[in-house]
Amino acid sequence: MTKSPKTPSESAVEMREMVMPNHTNPQNTVFGGTVMSWIDIAAAMVAARHCGKPVVTAHIDDIDFIAPIKVGYHVLIQASLNYVGKTSMIVGVKVTSENPYTGEVRTTTKAYLTFVALDDLGKPIEVPGLKVETEDEIRRFENAKKRVQMKKDVRNTLENKK
Ligand SMILES: CC(C)(COP(=O)(O)OP(=O)(O)OC[C@H]1O[C@@H](n2cnc3c(N)ncnc32)[C@H](O)[C@@H]1OP(=O)(O)O)[C@@H](O)C(=O)NCCC(=O)NCCS
Repeated sequence: MTKSPKTPSESAVEMREMVMPNHTNPQNTVFGGTVMSWIDIAAAMVAARHCGKPVVTAHIDDIDFIAPIKVGYHVLIQASLNYVGKTSMIVGVKVTSENPYTGEVRTTTKAYLTFVALDDLGKPIEVPGLKVETEDEIRRFENAKKRVQMKKDVRNTLENKK
């Protein structure tokens, strides 16, 4: 039986990291793969908290690296559920860097990830609905819905060209 709908705030996750030398690229700023790993973990926790089941990452799209992050800076990873399908969930993630010495904050990365909930046999299972209430929640839901439709349109266009 599917559980009753939940709001995004019931599953939202915030994580903090500090950029250490082992997280960097040859430019001495944070390595993109490290940020992607933090994003995937935060987003997976959101999806699992929403559905109360094991989840797997099915798709990552629209990942934008907007600004580099230096060693020693603090990193805030904020993730919340934007949209749910039948068995899938789209999580939006925003990454902000903070210079701990000046307090300056910058949005550095944004990403959208799709997770699928799995049953005991590893098959997709229905997830609870999403109750969007605030202006931001409704905007994120509508944008995610458009992204899902755009992805379907692109797939259909490419398949028709084969
Ligand atoms: C994700 C996975 C469970 C989907 O299995 P499947 O048999 O294709 O399932 P379905 O076709 O029934 O799709 C289930 C849902 O996932 C969605 N989905 C599947 N692949 C997707 C993709 N690439 N992008 C977005 N959504 C996707 C479907 O739209 C469907 O959503 P809905 O139920 O909300 O309508 C399967 O592809 C898988 O196990 N992938 C590997 C996951 C993994 O190992 N992740 C870690 C990667 S490093």
